[in-house]
Amino acid sequence: MFTNDIDNISNMMNQAIDQILSSLFLIIIISFAMLNVQPALGGVVLGLGIIMGIIMLISGIKSLKYVKGQQQTLGELNSNIDEKINGMSIIITNGIQRETIESFQPYNEKYRDLSIIGKTYSGMLAPVIQGFSLIVISVVIFFGVQMVVRNTIPVGILIVFVQYAALFFQPFQQIATHFNMVQLAVSGAERVKKVMKENEDIVDHKGSVNYKKLSKGIMFNNLYFSYEKEEQLLKNIKFEVEANKMLAIVGPTGGGKTTIMKLLNKFYAVDNNMIFFDDLDINNISVTSLRKNIGIVLQENVIFTGTIKENIIFGKMDATEEEMIRVAKKVNIHDYIMTLEQKYDTMADNLCSILSAGQKQLISIARTLLVDPDILILDEATSNVDTVTESNIKKSMDVIVKERTSLVIAHRLKTILQADKIIVLDSGEVVQCGTHVELLKEDGLYSELYYNQFASERVCN
Ligand SMILES: Nc1ncnc2c1ncn2[C@@H]1O[C@H](COP(=O)(O)OP(=O)(O)OP(=O)(O)O)[C@@H](O)[C@H]1O
Ligand SMILES: [Mg+2]
Repeated sequence: MFTNDIDNISNMMNQAIDQILSSLFLIIIISFAMLNVQPALGGVVLGLGIIMGIIMLISGIKSLKYVKGQQQTLGELNSNIDEKINGMSIIITNGIQRETIESFQPYNEKYRDLSIIGKTYSGMLAPVIQGFSLIVISVVIFFGVQMVVRNTIPVGILIVFVQYAALFFQPFQQIATHFNMVQLAVSGAERVKKVMKENEDIVDHKGSVNYKKLSKGIMFNNLYFSYEKEEQLLKNIKFEVEANKMLAIVGPTGGGKTTIMKLLNKFYAVDNNMIFFDDLDINNISVTSLRKNIGIVLQENVIFTGTIKENIIFGKMDATEEEMIRVAKKVNIHDYIMTLEQKYDTMADNLCSILSAGQKQLISIARTLLVDPDILILDEATSNVDTVTESNIKKSMDVIVKERTSLVIAHRLKTILQADKIIVLDSGEVVQCGTHVELLKEDGLYSELYYNQFASERVCN
């Protein structure tokens, strides 16, 4: 959708603008010529021309509403298609192909209706202008002939004038044919501006400095945060992670764990004095330098369409073969890749990938590791994987967290037993904090979560 909008803007810049400008220029020149040849008739034609211009403007503004609606519906239609393609396997396994196809119907109909109205408005313009110009010429001839008869003007002047009057309306036609392009561009520009504004939320202000390698650690200082103004999500979050240590965050779903990770990466703005890297407020650190030094493995593993190699070296395109293999070995995925026929050149994508969820996770970790970030964030690195992959991930995690400051969110508590500090987050608040051994001794949420998992795993095994 975004590229579609930008295409529309560029089409207008390349094709419509110069046509419209030259048409306007032509209108001005012919107006002068008409007023010069015969001021009275010239005044009449010019007056009618202004009325014509006003009609065009009104109809343009009216149809703009429909063009905008049309573009918006197209966006909704596209995201619906995207959603359905992503959920293809669920649709097939539930046998709801027909219903899915039918769900496109309302979007199609809305798009069709808006297009018809919009196109009627813009399509009407050209014939209206043509009809209008014929009427004007008739009026000119009617009065002109009378003037000739009364000997006010010579017949030659009338002939020249009629030609001018016919020429005068041609540029209006030109403008009308490019109107639709302008409308698409205007509605596109509005949406592009909106997106740009959203990104503007987090900008480097004057005096922001580059991120420096951590020497003390990261501190959350009574942080409050909410996505929506009314509802406070994170409340009074206070904890520290020492440099080169590992912090784990655990807790029930929806508690705000992922949100904490996003705040660390400046996805959303926080007030001053809430997050510190060493003694530097996060708001004084430049966004790009911060993000370059924080590696994130997201909860949803992202595999791009391309080869496995391209997926691993995504963040460092100039990485050597050895570097790539080194990280792949570190996360225990190298052996699996070597069993594939085309090895690192095997194609992969997110939809029908040859990779399992766990393998995707390992590749995501390898991708992040290759960049060698100072801080590593792993979001639920071990959910949805079999026990062999889980143990592979656990082994690789043990190696990689040693070399840097790391924050790990885990649902499976087994993987974070060795964390230097564990915080338990419940409904946006830190309810417990300590090492695994310390927390187990307390009679709290952590021991409850731990023994529940332990019990369910024993039953499963
Ligand atoms: N972009 C967003 N806009 C509004 N609300 C959001 C947004 N992202 C998350 N939330 C809400 O914030 C709350 C915390 O979400 P978050 O993803 O941080 O939880 P979590 O602890 O990571 O959960 P899980 O264990 O399931 O991954 C949830 O109620 C969620 O609906
Ligand atoms: Mg989460």
